[in-house]
Amino acid sequence: MTLESPARRRATTALLEASSLACSFGGVRAVVDVSFFVQPATITGLIGPNGAGKSTVIDLISGRTRPSAGRVRFAGEDITASKPYEVARRGLIRTFQKANVFNRLTVVENLLMGSPEWEGERVSRALGPRAWWRRGEDERVSRAYEVMRRFELEHLANHYAGSLSGGQKRLVELMRAMMAGPKLLLLDEPMAGVNPTLALSICERLEELRDEGMTMLMVEHELRLVERLCDPIVVMAHGSVLAEGSMAELQANEQVVDAYLGD
Ligand SMILES: Nc1ncnc2c1ncn2[C@@H]1O[C@H](COP(=O)(O)OP(=O)(O)OP(=O)(O)O)[C@@H](O)[C@H]1O
Ligand SMILES: [Mg+2]
Repeated sequence: MTLESPARRRATTALLEASSLACSFGGVRAVVDVSFFVQPATITGLIGPNGAGKSTVIDLISGRTRPSAGRVRFAGEDITASKPYEVARRGLIRTFQKANVFNRLTVVENLLMGSPEWEGERVSRALGPRAWWRRGEDERVSRAYEVMRRFELEHLANHYAGSLSGGQKRLVELMRAMMAGPKLLLLDEPMAGVNPTLALSICERLEELRDEGMTMLMVEHELRLVERLCDPIVVMAHGSVLAEGSMAELQANEQVVDAYLGD
């Protein structure tokens, strides 16, 4: 019997595998030879100083930016350089560093826009008299309310997203991502600009989702939240992966402390 190496085993069980990803903007090498795994039912952290290349890695995985080298495997399939909508259709859903909501739509309408195979023009009809609903639409509206209840924001259902606070907009974005029933959620600083109470509430929701088996890759600067939520944590600096491990392991790594944790 041949024993499988730990590295081979990690590759077999991973939901996502980024291998040797690279990307430059003009002369700037934003991402250089980045490799890591995301295992199922984890919240894998992606941390590092400003400009380290974290958002670019999220863009490369989600199909927003095409890598100049390297591969992305998701759920056993090569999705390198797939279009964002193709990636989303496979269940790989992302949020953005700058909250990206439809200000002129209500919260429930924003959520419906995140529903898979949803045709945008049907949103207003779905929320109109029930007689107009098509098969499946009531299900999606119910799902939107279920998601809002979970995030304790049902009372905001009919508020325009544009009238919400920055933190509430982040929650709307997160709830919209949930509408697609993601297999993997890529979160780019979901707690940025969110007041501490709301951040804690987001934190608890993410823990619940992880405990229910959802997988996340999360970029975050607030290290206390990273420590609480993320294991393992991938540390980037200057476009490369500097280290990977639990927060305790990273805190014992002098290079990581010098590059980031010691700030
Ligand atoms: N579209 C772009 N055009 C040119 N340069 C870019 C572009 N996107 C990113 N960069 C550059 O690539 C590098 C990595 O940027 P990136 O946004 O990925 O960093 P980050 O780790 O997400 O930083 P932050 O913590 O500030 O969000 C930076 O030097 C940035 O200026
Ligand atoms: Mg960023």
